[in-house]
Amino acid sequence: MTEKIISILQTEYGINCLSLISQKGGWSASAYKVSDGVKNYFLKAYELNRASTPKLTSMIDIYIPITIWLNQNTKLSGKIPVPVATKDGNYRCQDNHAIYLLYEYIDGETIGDDELSDEQVVQLSDMIAELHSFSSTQIPCDSLKIREDFALPFLQPLKEHIIQNFENLASDLKELLKGRIESVEKLMQRAEKLSHYLIKNKPKMVFCHTDLHNWNLMQSKNILILIDWEGLKVAPPEADLMFLKKKPYYKCFLDIYQEKHPDFQVNSDAMEFYLARRMLEDTWELAEQLLFDSQNEESRSQTLKYLKEILDDIES
Ligand SMILES: Nc1ncnc2c1ncn2[C@@H]1O[C@H](COP(=O)(O)OP(=O)(O)O)[C@@H](O)[C@H]1O
Ligand SMILES: [Mg+2]
Repeated sequence: MTEKIISILQTEYGINCLSLISQKGGWSASAYKVSDGVKNYFLKAYELNRASTPKLTSMIDIYIPITIWLNQNTKLSGKIPVPVATKDGNYRCQDNHAIYLLYEYIDGETIGDDELSDEQVVQLSDMIAELHSFSSTQIPCDSLKIREDFALPFLQPLKEHIIQNFENLASDLKELLKGRIESVEKLMQRAEKLSHYLIKNKPKMVFCHTDLHNWNLMQSKNILILIDWEGLKVAPPEADLMFLKKKPYYKCFLDIYQEKHPDFQVNSDAMEFYLARRMLEDTWELAEQLLFDSQNEESRSQTLKYLKEILDDIES
């Protein structure tokens, strides 16, 4: 594995890798700190044998150019990751093991389980207000493919593999789902209803990050950096605000946000749609791992634990 990565860094990027350290990445990809003795890089490797990889990598060529444009032309400059191109000018490369993305290394601390300080809330609010000030016509990149369509593509597989196939599920998964299926089905129906409603009513759409949580925020010197832009979309602002709704600083966030968007009012249907969709999507992604990925015992029990947390959320 290490040799493969060293080789791809050399052939694709012309980087002579002197040190390669495995990093604690997110759940979607493996991550490495790369150094050539002069500069540090952050390498994300999406393993081809993971069920989530096709979905997580399909939009790379769409969202990376937009983040570059944002970095060069907006107040987000210096606050978002800088991708490194291959010798051929691509922002991804691949071998028979994984799809790779290389970034400049950010020296800093991931917020993770910590709470945001008042200063960080101000910076986050300024960043999101800036991002939300752009609609698709204002950025000279193709964004049609990342336009929100209010689709619920995981409802069908959820129905098919979990609800209709309930009796044949592995016993640990079955045990966990027992008595909780009804609330999942109810949420599915509500999400479908809201989806139809939003398609019909066409709310205003802006660029949104759509994965705003503290593991995607890093503090580097005195700057808060928003990372992990693979969910970039043109969507109603609630696609981002849904992550902040339950935070103690939500009101403070909105006050700052509204300085830039004085006429903004939360669309409660869009908000409810995003909260519901996220829970259902998480349910499916975790179920998908349990159904199809080859996991060891430890990672399976971790996945079951996450799934239980979401199902508990759905019930309440
Ligand atoms: N450019 C970077 N430099 C240093 N660390 C990074 C960089 N990008 C991400 N990280 C670290 O790796 C973790 C996972 O990265 P992220 O892009 O969020 O991947 P995932 O899609 O797996 O969530 C982050 O929480 C952060 O700690
Ligand atoms: Mg992440």
